[in-house]
Amino acid sequence: MRGFRSALSRAAARTRAELQGTPRRRLSHSAATPVRPSFGIAFDIDGVILRGRSPIGGSPQAIQRLYADDGTLKIPFLFLTNGGGVPEYKRALELSELLGVNISPSQVVHGHSPYRELVKRFEDDPIVAVGKGEPAAVMAEYGFRKVLSIDDYSSYFREIDPLAPFKKWNVGQSDCKNLMSEKMHPPYDVYSERVKGVFVVSDPVDWGRDLQVLCDILSTGGLPGNGKGDQPPLYFAADDLEYQAAFPSERLGMGAFRIALESIFNQVNDLPLKYTSYGKPNPFVFKNAANILEKLAMGIYPKSQSTKEVKDHQFSTIYMIGDNPKVDICGVLKAGPPWSSILTRTGVFRGTDNDLKFPADLVVDTVEDAISCILEKECIR
Ligand code: G3P
Ligand code: MG
Repeated sequence: MRGFRSALSRAAARTRAELQGTPRRRLSHSAATPVRPSFGIAFDIDGVILRGRSPIGGSPQAIQRLYADDGTLKIPFLFLTNGGGVPEYKRALELSELLGVNISPSQVVHGHSPYRELVKRFEDDPIVAVGKGEPAAVMAEYGFRKVLSIDDYSSYFREIDPLAPFKKWNVGQSDCKNLMSEKMHPPYDVYSERVKGVFVVSDPVDWGRDLQVLCDILSTGGLPGNGKGDQPPLYFAADDLEYQAAFPSERLGMGAFRIALESIFNQVNDLPLKYTSYGKPNPFVFKNAANILEKLAMGIYPKSQSTKEVKDHQFSTIYMIGDNPKVDICGVLKAGPPWSSILTRTGVFRGTDNDLKFPADLVVDTVEDAISCILEKECIR
């Protein structure tokens, strides 16, 4: 809180100086004076912008303030969420519709977005993608060529889930003949080609089946039903224990699934589970977000600005607006300057003061309040 307050008073002093001497900065494309956005904003989604699929905390109004009257981007911002399950371009369309602005795919960073960096390593390897939504489509869009969702993968193995007959919802049937027929064109032969990588893309849906099938893949060296083998690499897009969805209290997230898988795997195998987790609070996620914001800021520069000036662009502050102290605020504390944190009370955090373990620079009720504070501090109308 102290950091943010002193930043606020520095900003106030700067504004006074600007008012006496130079004209106040304006940030739209159409501004007469060349502009240079000195700050960027990263928004968490679940618990800040949305609950389930409904906007919360005045999020449409807050986001709309970051655009000029002609609809062009005025302030560089992006969504930095540990969620996902659909390609970024689809999420951008969905958010544009919900928030009433034009959001580009580059403004959406999902927990699984860093998986793009692993394409070279796994491009032609058989892999399995886990989670809600369209995990295989996400990976295919990134460039992975031989990917099956865990739903499709499991459906090739008759009786792999002994509880399937008791499930009231529709599950893929183990009609191996049909599935292996030419019509299905599986991207690899699941009976002879070992799975070389497992990617948990989004929150798993059928935990019981997924825990079983992942234990099978990971302890057999990627070929279920074929004895023991070396564990293929396992990646998690995030490690949130809990997150805020539409239900009044928090829901178990990918981190909870990871704990379940790890403890079961470690009980039934001699060697402990090895895995890599991405997502906030990992500092590299914040570094990557800062790079994207820099690029967005460059797009906002008027053409008249010199290349050198554009190249030298650096933010004095990047604000992270989040609801989860352990994830969003902890991430900012790890990332350090120029990151600054604002905690809202619309999600996981509901306290009156600040979080004791991961205190934010500022605590506000809603994202709309957060934007008002930022724009006031940055002297933007
Ligand atoms: O499944 C979504 C959740 O893990 C967190 O999303 O937007 O709060 O980072 P977000
Ligand atoms: Mg959140």
